Amino acid sequence: LANGLAKTPPMGWNSWNHFGCQIDEKMIRETADAIISTGLSKLGYTYVNIDDCWAELNRDDKGNLVAKNSTFPSGIKALADYVHSKGLKLGIYSDAGYFTCSKRMPGSLGHEFQDAKTFASWDIDYLKYDNCFNGGSKPTERYPIMTRALMKAGRPIFFSLCEWGDLHPALWGAKVGNSWRTTGDISDTWESMISKADTNEVYAELARPGGWNDPDMLEVGNGGMTKNEYIVHFSLWAISKAPLLLGCDVRNVTKDTMEIISNKEVIAVNQDPLGVQAKKVRMEGDLEIWAGPLSGYRVAVVLLNRGAQRIAITANWDDIGIPPKSVVEARDLWEHKTLKKHFVDKLSATVESHGCKMYVLKPVA
Ligand code: GLA
Repeated sequence: LANGLAKTPPMGWNSWNHFGCQIDEKMIRETADAIISTGLSKLGYTYVNIDDCWAELNRDDKGNLVAKNSTFPSGIKALADYVHSKGLKLGIYSDAGYFTCSKRMPGSLGHEFQDAKTFASWDIDYLKYDNCFNGGSKPTERYPIMTRALMKAGRPIFFSLCEWGDLHPALWGAKVGNSWRTTGDISDTWESMISKADTNEVYAELARPGGWNDPDMLEVGNGGMTKNEYIVHFSLWAISKAPLLLGCDVRNVTKDTMEIISNKEVIAVNQDPLGVQAKKVRMEGDLEIWAGPLSGYRVAVVLLNRGAQRIAITANWDDIGIPPKSVVEARDLWEHKTLKKHFVDKLSATVESHGCKMYVLKPVA
């Protein structure tokens, strides 16, 4: 969407994956504090996004959405002011239907212009727009109304389409929003995570600066996967130019979680200005190679082992789009090491079960 936003995929945090409907203003404020104190904001995590369940079930007598008094007594504008005072941005959630998915608050269908104005008056920076209870009309009819409403609201607001990939939003989303969900909801398991990455990959050609494919938010740190699996999760999201929206409780992160989500070199792949989503360039049994170009004639590569046994994986230049005979320097992004040897034609590595290696390759001759 040409609203000047999302030149690179958005980074930040969202309440849903960890907290569901158990949210309140104190927790959101503490999360903003933690994003600063942990150093995550300096790495680019900027959006603090409130998901479902922030509003009263009924609109006020003028038809306006109102923050839930029992959990957000100071109101959303005060929260936005707080978050902005820390140099962060505030996101909110609504639905292109009559209720949101929890059914605990109203949706914006039929109230798009009024709600967009409300959000702008609260200084909101990001809207996630869900698809529940929509009365059966097409998303291609409902979502663009909110696009127009946001464009008229007088404030740049990142527009995240949460249509779950039903009507292939990658095909129409670029004119409507800044990101579009290509999948149903992620859960905190290897099978769920890897299936979202697979589905999202199909649409790789359609991602570009201003509009990104969204395989759903991160589960890193929520406890359902092993460390290696979370490394795969973060690596695949990064190379797929997916939004990097943390979904854990950032007020209480372990050292392992922090090590993963604060990997600067992996984040730099995600935020590379070229903005090209990686693709699977080879699949053989349990092994997969994902690759995509970066700025400066570099290439990002993930060697992925989906199986139960440790295996050797070889990336051939031919597969990953490097000219034949090129001499290449390889940076291992999880070991934080530039390999001593230069590589010609191919690069091989041993990869653990449900693990990956991630490299940036740079031709040196
Ligand atoms: C849908 C969305 C989720 C979350 C919930 C909230 O399932 O896909 O990401 O926003 O609704 O109810």
